[in-house]
Amino acid sequence: MSRVASFPGAKPANSDSSRKSQMSDFQECEVQNRRDQVDNKQSPVNLAVNVGGIRMVNPVTTGSGTFGFGPEYAPYLDLRQLGAITVKGITLEPRLGNPVPRIVETPAGMLNAIGLQNPGVEAFIRDHLPYLREVGVPVIVNIAGNTVEDYAAVAERLDQAPGVAGLEVNISCPNVKKGGLQFGTDPVMAAEVIGAVRASTKLPVIAKLSPNVTNIVAMAESVAQAGANALSLINTLLGMAIDVQARRPVLANVVGGLSGPAIKPVAVRMVWQVAQAVDLPIIGMGGITTAEDALEFILAGATAVAVGTANFINPRATLEVVAGLAAYCEANGIKDINELVGWAWKMSC
Ligand SMILES: Cc1cc2nc3c(=O)[nH]c(=O)nc-3n(C[C@H](O)[C@H](O)[C@H](O)COP(=O)(O)O)c2cc1C
Repeated sequence: MSRVASFPGAKPANSDSSRKSQMSDFQECEVQNRRDQVDNKQSPVNLAVNVGGIRMVNPVTTGSGTFGFGPEYAPYLDLRQLGAITVKGITLEPRLGNPVPRIVETPAGMLNAIGLQNPGVEAFIRDHLPYLREVGVPVIVNIAGNTVEDYAAVAERLDQAPGVAGLEVNISCPNVKKGGLQFGTDPVMAAEVIGAVRASTKLPVIAKLSPNVTNIVAMAESVAQAGANALSLINTLLGMAIDVQARRPVLANVVGGLSGPAIKPVAVRMVWQVAQAVDLPIIGMGGITTAEDALEFILAGATAVAVGTANFINPRATLEVVAGLAAYCEANGIKDINELVGWAWKMSC
């Protein structure tokens, strides 16, 4: 996980370390935030993208569950420079999440079994949405549920809340009415959820696919038919770790979701396959740490990207990716980043 960004425009997290010793962390961040604004305004490249009706000034958003509700990261970067902010998964009722330990570091990644800890939709709208609205970038609300009706109710409530740009539907949740089988592992159940959310809101609906399936294209086609405006992929891969001293699983939940650089090749492969089969914009994610990683997803067919686990090791990773994308386009004579979407297969046909 200690990969140092080396791509054009992507500054390593520790590049200013000598100066840092003379400044407080807060001053350092203020200076960096002002620098972000200047850097981004100078780019002659069009970085703006449209994800199923969500207009983003650049293609970079945050991975749900890795960026809180935004203010947690405000000391480290100017949130207004993000293409969008995707918040932690929201359910109808508040949830405390799973017992600890619920996180474990793995080679080139991490396992988490947070269990969708969140304050519930009412508290989200009351306590977090006003702040996000002030930031002024599109707010994508990730939603989850135990039943189709749960998802529909959260979507309907958020539809009436000013300041929400779109809903990202996390279908990697157990369907309690079907013995706990995940919605996202069955094309029929996945379509039911997306259809119900679609019928409950006028907001753009992004279906977030689970990679824990044998045929990702079948899942994408199913949710597309059910009315999704865009797709997000991928969510975490099911995994586990065992403590050899204790001789039992590390996570209290036994299994968890693997994320980080370890999953990037799987994610790029899935974006590549789905982009060629389904005519919907894709938000690609899974192990993006640098602009070069993001470009792999864009060249595979993603219109936008989300930075997730990387935020935990470098809270400025999102904006470094934005800067690196602009630098790549400039260096390669690309005037509009949309030209690069799917290039790796479009240009080889
Ligand atoms: C701690 C943690 C919490 C997460 N919470 C959510 C969530 O609430 N909803 C969701 O759809 N995905 C959630 N994810 C999945 C991420 O949004 C993302 O899809 C996945 O981690 C792959 O991207 P990454 O490798 O860049 O982290 C979570 C991931 C992590 C690491």
